[in-house]
Amino acid sequence: MPTARITVDREFTIGPVPRRLFGSFVEHMGRCVYTGIYEPGHPQADEHGYRRDVLDLTREMGVSIVRYPGGNFVSGYRWEDGIGPVDQRPRRIDGAWHTIETNAFGLHEFAGWANEAGVEMQEAINLGTAGVEEARAIVEYANHPGGTAWSDKRIANGAKDPFGIKVWNLGNELDGEWQIGHKTAEEYGRLAQEAGKAMRLVDPSIELIAVGSSNAHMPTFGQWEYTVLSHAYDVVDYISLHAYYQEHDGDVRSFLASANDMDYFIESVIATVDAVKAKKSSSKQVNLSFDEWNVWYQQRGDADDQLHVIEQKAQWREHPRLIEDTYNVTDAIVVGTYLNSLLRHGDRVTIANQAQLVNVIAPIRAEENGPAWRQTIYWPFARVAELAKGQILRTATTGDRFESAQYGDADVVDASVTYDAERGRVAVFLANRGLDDDADVTVTLNGFTAKSISRAEVLTIPEGGNRNSVNTEQDQNAVAPTKLDRVAVQDGLVRVTMPALSWAAVELEVTEA
Ligand code: AHR
Repeated sequence: MPTARITVDREFTIGPVPRRLFGSFVEHMGRCVYTGIYEPGHPQADEHGYRRDVLDLTREMGVSIVRYPGGNFVSGYRWEDGIGPVDQRPRRIDGAWHTIETNAFGLHEFAGWANEAGVEMQEAINLGTAGVEEARAIVEYANHPGGTAWSDKRIANGAKDPFGIKVWNLGNELDGEWQIGHKTAEEYGRLAQEAGKAMRLVDPSIELIAVGSSNAHMPTFGQWEYTVLSHAYDVVDYISLHAYYQEHDGDVRSFLASANDMDYFIESVIATVDAVKAKKSSSKQVNLSFDEWNVWYQQRGDADDQLHVIEQKAQWREHPRLIEDTYNVTDAIVVGTYLNSLLRHGDRVTIANQAQLVNVIAPIRAEENGPAWRQTIYWPFARVAELAKGQILRTATTGDRFESAQYGDADVVDASVTYDAERGRVAVFLANRGLDDDADVTVTLNGFTAKSISRAEVLTIPEGGNRNSVNTEQDQNAVAPTKLDRVAVQDGLVRVTMPALSWAAVELEVTEA
């Protein structure tokens, strides 16, 4: 049986758990907005057209902040199209997803939905086809109290109080040649600096995210971040990272080890950001916003998620079904390891958004005029968002490791640990990436006396199922967490036996030793 020994110490902290690590993403893409969060006429819709079933699941999932309205969509979007009387809003072509955008849902609708969902708004601006003027206008519209042209327009459109949006993305994936308005690092760095400066002149309290690389394997990765920040370091607070992973051609070991790539990506971006900081002799720290991450099957046998296939499928229709990946047990375990990676870097990654929230590569699925349910990947997110409180503790892991072709070797058991001093609770999040065997895990808690186990749950292959088991409209709870029985506190140590391919959350009642 593979073994793992995890050691933490109360004094060895990484930093407070950033609440914004539990963010999500709503893009005008496929059925994320229309028939996802918003479907007037649905039996569960409220008077604004927001789906109550989806709102309930969003709240239950513990989502803290939601990035909107894109994604690739935002690089050709005119935010002004989404304000004012709905029947006067223009229908537009959305070139990013080959879709017709009705603009029935816009900034006010998003603000109302975010308020209902209890999430913070994170707004992305268009720096693909738009520029400095549009950037400062939307900040004035959204955040200025009143008495100016744009803020008075907001009031006339029904929102007396400013939306008070703090976090703003300065564009999206502009390093990618697929992006509308794709730019070189020099071009983008200058634009981000000037747009950010103009936005801050309207509202100095906002936080700005510069576009980083679309993944760690872009040809410009590293140089892009360095050049962009050489221009915009003084005006931005974060730089973004995006990453999607999938199981390729049955190479499940590489997929299970793919959080190694997330670690590498994060650590490389930190190094680059800090190199610019040193070059500028700056005392300011720029942090990381991992504002798109998830499993996404872009290259599957049926190739249904590749960009050119998406275009053929969309065919200039309104909210077509796009990239509605159905997630299995393996995907959920891997998502658990991404959450561990984010937590272990929580001193520098202080915003993260799982992409996306509903239907489009999402933890929540919702059928038009039908039900909404939780996908497998919903569960690790919901439990970490609920239980990871207080301080993140450094973890030292020793034990069995496994080889992967794509991402090198990795611990069979992956872990992150948090300590909530207020409630006297330690939370341990574990993924057993072993495909065949149970794993024997020992957790040593230096500086604590473990009293009892207050909660222990495991997500694994259901009885009669396999690692490809999924939740469906017909069987919505086929894969769900169950009570973890094989866990005990013995001689001050926590001993856990995890089933093969499983993810577990163990919460302990502790006192400080
Ligand atoms: O989340 C789907 C798409 O993936 C986003 O629109 C884009 O930013 C990324 O490439």
